[in-house]
Amino acid sequence: MRYLVTGDAGFIGFHVARRLLAEGHAVLGLDALTDYYDVDLKHRRLAILGGAPGFRHVTMALEDHATLFQLMGEFRPDRVIHLAAQAGVRYSIENPRAYISANVVGTFNLLEACRAHPVQHLLLASTSSAYGANDKYPFEETDPSVHPITLYAATKGSTELMAHCYAHLFGTPTTAFRFFTVYGPWGRPDMAYFLFTRKILEGQPIEIFNHGEAWRDFTYIDDLVTSILRLAELPPPLADARTGHTALPGDTLSPVAPYRLVNIGGGQPERVSELVSELEKALGLEAVKVLKPLPPGDVVKTFASAALLEALTGQKPSTPLSAGIPQFVRWYRSHYN
Ligand SMILES: NC(=O)c1ccc[n+]([C@@H]2O[C@H](COP(=O)([O-])OP(=O)(O)OC[C@H]3O[C@@H](n4cnc5c(N)ncnc54)[C@H](O)[C@@H]3O)[C@@H](O)[C@H]2O)c1
Repeated sequence: MRYLVTGDAGFIGFHVARRLLAEGHAVLGLDALTDYYDVDLKHRRLAILGGAPGFRHVTMALEDHATLFQLMGEFRPDRVIHLAAQAGVRYSIENPRAYISANVVGTFNLLEACRAHPVQHLLLASTSSAYGANDKYPFEETDPSVHPITLYAATKGSTELMAHCYAHLFGTPTTAFRFFTVYGPWGRPDMAYFLFTRKILEGQPIEIFNHGEAWRDFTYIDDLVTSILRLAELPPPLADARTGHTALPGDTLSPVAPYRLVNIGGGQPERVSELVSELEKALGLEAVKVLKPLPPGDVVKTFASAALLEALTGQKPSTPLSAGIPQFVRWYRSHYN
């Protein structure tokens, strides 16, 4: 298969591209190498991918629609996995424009490119943040998600809606997935597990929000990649009661488009203080903890319903923090000596 992977220099895109290449697929990766965090880390990820046959990377912003159209026309992907984005909840309060540009304009350009050069399946990353102020647990894909509390969430919700329109109008089979706090080797330096590791090693205090009463449904990267690649094999059909395509309980298959929304999370939320304990164990050091109130835009808890993912793929993320965090720490120590 020929896969276009956007955001291949990013944390998740790198792992997805690496697995695809290991399975013998051809991958064209597009990434702007933005300086939201350490660009050297992105170059190092690309250096690993660069050694694989069947891989090509182009450094470009998705806002450059002319180049995007040209590359889509040349490469003619069978499937597109769209992971490039301006990520991060807190930064969207500081620099909202980056989110409109990368997430709304960038995704719109990609949808237009898929309209011009139709693909078998378009898969795009949304986020648990799209559930916004929802406090009904677990978060089910059928829950209303109309109360986003950050512009990050609003832009990601917009990409889901735009993709649904394109699936309806132009028939592109589309799966949107909502990720839940993904972590692991080669991870994102702005995320808590990464920041905490650096600070604990440097003997600096770490800030724990909502005075320790916050929960996240942590997802280990290898589990996430497995879920994405299994979903890639399942382009949503156009729902039709006669063909039984809507028979799966809790399915989010649109009645008017070959479009489905799926959580990728294990449904096992853990206290953030549990994350800190696992880091302390793996690092062999005790953290200096400062308890803080919840910052604006953060939610107290994320909790995925994994029922639809499991029904579709027979799998759900299940690596516990006690297994995933030591993997991350091992990588961190070797990467940063
Ligand atoms: N990591 C998580 O826990 C998590 C949770 C929910 C959703 N997501 C979503 O998953 C996707 C991947 O996230 P990640 O953690 O790998 O983030 P990341 O920041 O490591 O990767 C995103 C990549 O996109 C690139 N990029 C940004 N703007 C671009 C643009 N305009 N054009 C081209 N490339 C651009 C960046 O350079 C970066 O390499 C994102 O869509 C993110 O919103 C991630």
